[in-house]
Amino acid sequence: MAETTLTLNGQTVAFQPGQTILEVARGAGVEIPTLCWMKDTLPTGSCRVCVVEVEGARTLLPACATQAAANQVIMTESPRVAAARRMVLELALASGNHNCLICEANGECELQALAYRYQVPFPAFATPPDQPYYFEDNNSMIVRDFSKCIMCGRCVRGCCERQVNDAIAIGYRGSHNKIVAKADKTYIESDCVFCGECVQSCPVGALLDKNALGRGRAWERTPVRTTCPYCGVGCQLEVQVKDDRIVKISGADLEPNHGRLCVKGRFGWHYVHHPERLTTPLLRKNGELTPVSWEEALDFVAGRLKDLKEKYGPEQIGGWCSARITNEENYLMQKFMRAVIGTNHVDHCARL
Ligand code: FES
Repeated sequence: MAETTLTLNGQTVAFQPGQTILEVARGAGVEIPTLCWMKDTLPTGSCRVCVVEVEGARTLLPACATQAAANQVIMTESPRVAAARRMVLELALASGNHNCLICEANGECELQALAYRYQVPFPAFATPPDQPYYFEDNNSMIVRDFSKCIMCGRCVRGCCERQVNDAIAIGYRGSHNKIVAKADKTYIESDCVFCGECVQSCPVGALLDKNALGRGRAWERTPVRTTCPYCGVGCQLEVQVKDDRIVKISGADLEPNHGRLCVKGRFGWHYVHHPERLTTPLLRKNGELTPVSWEEALDFVAGRLKDLKEKYGPEQIGGWCSARITNEENYLMQKFMRAVIGTNHVDHCARL
């Protein structure tokens, strides 16, 4: 496709027809802040945090929802742009109860970061709500705190466009609009499958992983990348760890899941710290299962397999793999059976 150019903050930048101003800017290393924009979903242009000044345009334009055009002259941080962003952020802060001191999202909240960046004063327009903010805490995985919701709609697009679950939508009109599940029921009464994509999409503290509440601030946790052990898809995880304990799990933006997870991968990790979990091999000695080192266990298994192969032949030995390990480990298991033991007797628990 033919490239064409525009001027971005005084620099000439080439772009492909069809790209948005946001895409062109990011491609050129120019950062434009966003709130409602989310990767792999259609831009809605609803929050207006990404507005930029385009010479000749009647108003400021949302960079995420405006296509770049040849010879445009764009300013991404002019005084007019900064003032507009400050106003947008002030309005977002005015609707709700954004008390960062006690908010679970403190330190990873995108609204908080932008309010700091643009030095937004205490909202001049804040008014107390005419009724208490809706708060939902009747399931074991997700908390919904509408006092923090800024109606960016990212949770809805995460649910409907990324996961294609269609469990939530924007309901009601005007200042009464809110995120609804099955005609405004609680998650547990709706079609929600608790994949948690809405929690991962939320830029503030309106949707929270219930099991992570109060268990460590963002700056106290260490992210650890690993592979989900629940099935052969091999989803990539970012496990948040504090004091050698899992706090919560998010999907990593990598192949094959690109951030998405299922309910098990995101919320089903408590077995890791279960006190009855086996953490060392057990060998039966004098009729009793006894903890032993990996060296002793592997020497024992190797010796027994060797004896059995010599005595009965490789066709009398079979290997059983598991759906709870990675594809790579399953590959190694069948390779071991075929190349080392010398048999094709390999099976997998998924066929039970
Ligand atoms: Fe562009 Fe919200 S990020 S309008």
